[in-house]
Amino acid sequence: MNQNEQADRLSEETSSIWFETVRLPSFKKLNGNLQTEAVIVGGGITGITTAYLLAKEGVKVVLIEADRLCSGTTGYTTAKITAQHTLIYDELIGHFGEEKAKLYYLANQGARDWIGQMVRTHDIHCDFREQPAVVYADKEKEVRQIEKEAEAYRKLGIPGTVTESLDLALPVKKALIMHHQAQFHPLMYLHFLIAELVKMDVSIYEETVAVEMTEAPSCVVHTKEGHQIHCSDVLICSHFPFYDKGFYFSRMYPERSYLMAVETEQPIPDGMYISAGNPKRSVRSLSCNGRAMTLVGGENHKTGRGENTANHFQKLAVFADTLGAKEIICHWSAQDYTTLDKIPYIGKLSSRHSHMYVAAGFKKWGMTSGTLAARLLADQLLERDNPYSEVFSPQRFTADPVIKRFMIDNGSIAGHLIKGKLEKGKESIKHLKNDQGAVVSLNGKRAGAYKNKEGRLTIVDTTCTHMGCEVNWNQGERTWDCPCHGSRYEATGEVIDGPAKKPLRQLYREHHTQDGEK
Ligand code: FES
Repeated sequence: MNQNEQADRLSEETSSIWFETVRLPSFKKLNGNLQTEAVIVGGGITGITTAYLLAKEGVKVVLIEADRLCSGTTGYTTAKITAQHTLIYDELIGHFGEEKAKLYYLANQGARDWIGQMVRTHDIHCDFREQPAVVYADKEKEVRQIEKEAEAYRKLGIPGTVTESLDLALPVKKALIMHHQAQFHPLMYLHFLIAELVKMDVSIYEETVAVEMTEAPSCVVHTKEGHQIHCSDVLICSHFPFYDKGFYFSRMYPERSYLMAVETEQPIPDGMYISAGNPKRSVRSLSCNGRAMTLVGGENHKTGRGENTANHFQKLAVFADTLGAKEIICHWSAQDYTTLDKIPYIGKLSSRHSHMYVAAGFKKWGMTSGTLAARLLADQLLERDNPYSEVFSPQRFTADPVIKRFMIDNGSIAGHLIKGKLEKGKESIKHLKNDQGAVVSLNGKRAGAYKNKEGRLTIVDTTCTHMGCEVNWNQGERTWDCPCHGSRYEATGEVIDGPAKKPLRQLYREHHTQDGEK
């Protein structure tokens, strides 16, 4: 693919290969009050799987999703089902000891096996394939990390193999293979689960935004449109807990990453590959409707703090070229939250909320972590023992590394708060092209301008409505992203992703009148 064609392709709007190849059913908005047993907020893999498990046990469930099902991280994943979360076991042993590190592995491997069992039992057509997961060092300084991780595998009894060469065209110094992992098409898999929910009379509502909750005497979920859902329990399975009564915004940090599906000269060998160091690179094969492709990902950075997003896609395209890419089929990006100690928060929202549960902070491993979260939440709600409750409890506290990470993250947030306030926009509104946005200077103040595809201008106040940091423009996704806690807004200011709940203040919006005049 020549450079100009590639640049044109990458400036087009993003779309994920999963949504390009599967159409999920759609559901109506909630338009009245309801009474049920369990309300699940969030229609990604965690919410859908939790709804499936609870409905199977006879619990009356309502599932609400702020946008469309799977439109959060689930529809934008690499769809690896694995307990190999890059390098983590040596670190977990160091911070929590062997017993907890082993429980972390078993919980994730259990989720991988559960998905495999579902696929086999129900003959779900979702391109599920058993694959080895491979973390590789491509620099000398990372070799020692691979060796330490291999030693952690040995201590924990994780089936693994160390190698110094791979069949893939990557400059590998040393690699660690975790056997018996898997990959799939997440939306084909969830399409089956959604159909099962419908059969079990689970009520599903899309474009239904939960904005508030109350817990006494019973739980009530309040929606943006003023409706109420009365219930016994609420499970918050949204990307970010919309009801943040546990200071989750200061205990997780958001990162964006970039992906593309490409057609290569030759199919790549089996395996799901990820680099140990930076820049992060992830590679796996992919088969959609009989067409063999390769999925490449990486270029991770904290939300709102990256360079121009087009540059991230360009760098990935250069990497894809080294694997023999001849055509970019589609490209997209994703946002994930990581907790301070890297273990997701799954369980009661806080010690004061006995009927509200949360699952968040999956660090980019949401297919496995989301499934294990669903199993854990279902057990907790049904008052069944689960051996992994303590490891994932949101109420856990371990001084190291939590305090250190908290100081680093919140220190850098304070820095962004001040820096953002001092920065003025460098771009000029009159130089904006159609479908382009930028931070501009308006009457000497920082503002956000976007000209849509028809050339109509919107100007927003770039002050994040969560805690006042200054949002930055993301040209790849046409969004305003906050560098502090990861809130994201549409180009016109509406909230896409929390913790912010209110839109950016609109300072100006150009409309078409009925006769087409501006
Ligand atoms: Fe917290 Fe923007 S997300 S200040």
